Amino acid sequence: MRIDIIAVVPEILEGPLSQSIVRRARDKGIVEIVVHTLRDYSDNNYKSVDDYAYGGGAGMVIRPEPVFRIIDKLRGERDYDEIIYVTPDGSPFTQQTANTLSLQENLIILCGHYKGVDQRIRDHLITREISIGDYVLSGGELAAAVITDAVVRLIPGVLNDETSALTDSFQDHLLAPPVYTRPEVFRGWKVPEILLSGDPKKIEQWRMEKAMEKTRKIRPDLWKKTEEEDE
Ligand code: 6GU
Repeated sequence: MRIDIIAVVPEILEGPLSQSIVRRARDKGIVEIVVHTLRDYSDNNYKSVDDYAYGGGAGMVIRPEPVFRIIDKLRGERDYDEIIYVTPDGSPFTQQTANTLSLQENLIILCGHYKGVDQRIRDHLITREISIGDYVLSGGELAAAVITDAVVRLIPGVLNDETSALTDSFQDHLLAPPVYTRPEVFRGWKVPEILLSGDPKKIEQWRMEKAMEKTRKIRPDLWKKTEEEDE
């Protein structure tokens, strides 16, 4: 897989995409991630990428020229399955979205900044608009890092048995059950007896019960979805 990320502040992406599992996936050659600086595709001497909004109002808007320039260039080099714009007014990012994107070959992620991007970019370039939650970030870079991380870990060969995605929260619309490690007793608090029983069937049943209990309590919205699907 190849992911091209177009950023106004590429430095924000460096850390998250150069550590841990994403770094390993890059090192293994399973994913190629290329971060581009939008400013490098500016069409003026000041290297600016934004301008005032027509109709007035506070905040700057990313101009179409630099964005079309870089995306036209990239599309000349390979076919892209999706050109994603990360924005607080996009569709909610879910594990389902991550699963879908992890099956693609080539992705572009465009990060917004300021008051957003000229609507013509969204109308004529973008194939999918994603928000990572109902709050506003200063720019799309952190959202792009979140999406990239969630997608990359799902590509076959990235995770091993120990880090397997199959038991993650959300893969079955349930939150993950509690987990424990040594010591068996810490400050007087004991690990649940059943986890020490060595009975895999009972342990699996306990985990399922705890996952359901937790989901009902913390995420009644998710729980309703699980129930509806079971019907
Ligand atoms: Cl994708 N971008 C920004 N700037 N803020 C957000 C977001 C994205 N998703 C939630 N908040």
